[in-house]
Amino acid sequence: MKSTASAPGKIILFGEHFVVHGTRAILAAIDKRVTVTSSFTDNNTIRVNSELGTLEIPISSSYEVKSEFKPFVYLANKMISSNQSVNGLEITIDSDIPIGVGLGSSSACCVAATASISGLFKELSSEEILNLSIEAEKTIFPDTSGADCTVCTYGGMIEYTKDETVPVYHASTKKIDNTFDLNLLIANSMIPHSTKNSVEKVNKFKENDEERFSELCDLETKLINEVIVVMKNNDTTALGLKMSENQKYLEEIQVSNNTLRDMISSLNEISLGSKITGAGDGGCIIALVNDENMDKVSALLGKDKEYFSAKIDTKGVVRV
Ligand code: PMV
Repeated sequence: MKSTASAPGKIILFGEHFVVHGTRAILAAIDKRVTVTSSFTDNNTIRVNSELGTLEIPISSSYEVKSEFKPFVYLANKMISSNQSVNGLEITIDSDIPIGVGLGSSSACCVAATASISGLFKELSSEEILNLSIEAEKTIFPDTSGADCTVCTYGGMIEYTKDETVPVYHASTKKIDNTFDLNLLIANSMIPHSTKNSVEKVNKFKENDEERFSELCDLETKLINEVIVVMKNNDTTALGLKMSENQKYLEEIQVSNNTLRDMISSLNEISLGSKITGAGDGGCIIALVNDENMDKVSALLGKDKEYFSAKIDTKGVVRV
């Protein structure tokens, strides 16, 4: 018996980092996916196959595994023990989401793996998938705001506020329904980043200057309120300006670097606005670019950068 599920990657349009400290963020799922296939085996092991390598360990082992395998091992052990299964599990991951560059690869893996592995036992609701996938993601990143797993589960565009005192989806997430057709360019700096390290750096910034950090949180909140209005009015030009404004706040909390700044400025002549998406310190930038200018991107960015245009995924996690 096999169970397959897929989940989309994501971008953060507004509010990364500040969302960890309680402000709202706006995220969108994108049309790049990870697919996870799970099956029972006769061995007493958990086997994980991915482009990062293969792992095989005994069930219920307290083996220290590499960080990228932790969520799968956590989910497999949890479901094997809660369903009193006597079988082992084989989990295979196929992804077209670039890894470690802020496009939600690990969250999409957690969400797709939760749906895939649980599908061998029983169908879970979206909310159950979300809660379990956040638990799995916490094995690699305990401070996650939960925003990434939420958008990977539900798809579309969402407003998200971290609130650990209430059930995750209903109270803290609002779907943005009237999204207009955004031409989003995603460009990869090809510098891998660590979300954990960048979040810790921002924590230090906050410790050193509580007052300015609190002002920046207020500015981000104001900006996002304005963004909601701008989106309702389908005003792409104003939306681009808001993205560039958000980039200033990300520069100030020091999650940018010369490569990201160069990429942003090289796209200035064709973009309505651009910013880092995700943790920064590498990873990707997003830019609003009109379709007719897409053929200029390659020359502006240079050959060493990857880029693609993204559409917003509306499906979220699906069993295949
Ligand atoms: O892992 P990334 O690059 O998608 O960044 C996640 C966004 C943060 O706001 C930096 C962290 C979080 O948990 O929301």
